[in-house]
Amino acid sequence: MQLSQSFPVVILSACSVVASVNPVTVFTLPGPVKPSSWFENLVVRPNGRILATRGDAPEIWQINPSTGAGEMLVSLPPSTGALNLTGISRVHMGDGDETYVFGSSHIPAPLQVTPGSAKVWTLKMADSGSASVSLLASIPAAGFLNGIAEWGRNGRVLISDTEREAVYLMDVATGSFTTPLTNLTGINGIKTVGPTHGSGYLYRADHMSLTLSRIPIDAARATALGPAELLANQQLIDDFSLKMDKHGGTGKAYLGTMYDNSVVEVAFGSQPSSGLGVKTPVATNLTGTGFGLCTVTVFGRGRNKDKLYAAVGQGGGSAQIVVLDLS
Ligand SMILES: *[C@@H]1O[C@H](CO)[C@@H](O)[C@H](O)[C@H]1NC(C)=O
Ligand SMILES: *[C@@H]1O[C@H](CO)[C@@H](O)[C@H](O)[C@H]1NC(C)=O
Ligand SMILES: *[C@@H]1O[C@H](CO)[C@@H](O)[C@H](O)[C@H]1NC(C)=O
Repeated sequence: MQLSQSFPVVILSACSVVASVNPVTVFTLPGPVKPSSWFENLVVRPNGRILATRGDAPEIWQINPSTGAGEMLVSLPPSTGALNLTGISRVHMGDGDETYVFGSSHIPAPLQVTPGSAKVWTLKMADSGSASVSLLASIPAAGFLNGIAEWGRNGRVLISDTEREAVYLMDVATGSFTTPLTNLTGINGIKTVGPTHGSGYLYRADHMSLTLSRIPIDAARATALGPAELLANQQLIDDFSLKMDKHGGTGKAYLGTMYDNSVVEVAFGSQPSSGLGVKTPVATNLTGTGFGLCTVTVFGRGRNKDKLYAAVGQGGGSAQIVVLDLS
C-alpha cells in the first residue's frame, strides 16, 4: 500500500460569521440608572409607535421610533397587584377599537413568581392617544404568564404560562379560557400563524431545551393536531418575531437570545417539518457593552417594516430599545 502521493495541505481558517447589522439605540429608560430595569415585551401599534411592557415595574411605555421620544403610557397602582408586566399583543375585537391584552405576575426576583398573582389585562387606545386599562381575568392557578399571541381575528388570544408549562386560549370579551396545550416545558415567547382552513400553527420558544418549534393547532379549540416540528436547537432563546413568506409555512424567525445579547435569524422550511432551519447571527453585542440580555424582537410597520426593534437590558445600566435595519 503506497501512501507516497502528497497533497497540498490547505488550512481552512475558521470562517467567523460576522454579524453585519449595527444596532442603533432608539430609546433608553430615563431617570436614575437601574441595572435591573428590563422591558419584557414589545408590540408595534398601527401608527408605528412601540408599546413596551416593563418587567421590573407595572408600567407600559410608548416610544416613537422615528424621533426616539418615549413616555410612560400606563402605570398601574400597587393596589392592582400587578407588579411586573409580561407579554402584550394586539387583539381585534371586531369593534374597530385598538385593543391590546397584556399579562402581569408578581415576580419578586428572576425566575420567582408569587403563587396566585397572575392576571390578564385589557388596554384600549383611544383616537386621542389616551390609554385605559381594565382587569380581564385573574388566574390564581397560573404561574408566569409569558407570551401572548392573537389567535384569529375574533377576539381570542393564546397565553403561554412558563411555570405551568401550558397555553391558555382566552376569549377577550369575557375573560373565560380553556387550556388546550399542556406539557410544554420551558415555554416562553409564542407567535401564531393562521388559522386558515380550520388550522394554524403555534410557534414557541423553549428556553430550557434551547429550541424553537411549531405545533399545528386546531382553529376552534387550539388543541394540537400533530407533533411539534423542531426548527432550531442549541439556541439561547427568549421571545421572537416572525416574517413569514406568503405561502407554505416558510419564513424566518428573529430570536432575542437572552444572555447571548444578540439577535439570531432562523430561516425555516415549509410545514410539515422540513427539519432544522438555518441559523445566522444578525447582530451581536446589542447593548454595546459586551454583556447584557435581549428579551424580544418586533418588526416596525409601514416604512419601518424592515426595521427590527429589540429590547435589551442589564448592559448599559437600564432598559433600552435598539433598532436593526434589515432592509
Ligand atoms: C418586579 O417588580 C417590582 C416592582 O413592581 C420590582 O421591585 C422587582 O424587582 C421586579 N422583579 C424583577 C425580577 O425585576
Ligand atoms: C405530560 O407529561 C407527563 C410526564 O412526561 C406524562 O405522564 C403525561 O401523560 C403528559 N400529558 C400529556 C397530556 O401529554
Ligand atoms: C461591544 O461594543 C462596544 C462598543 O462598540 C465595544 O467597545 C466592545 O468591545 C464590544 N464588546 C464585544 C464583546 O464585542
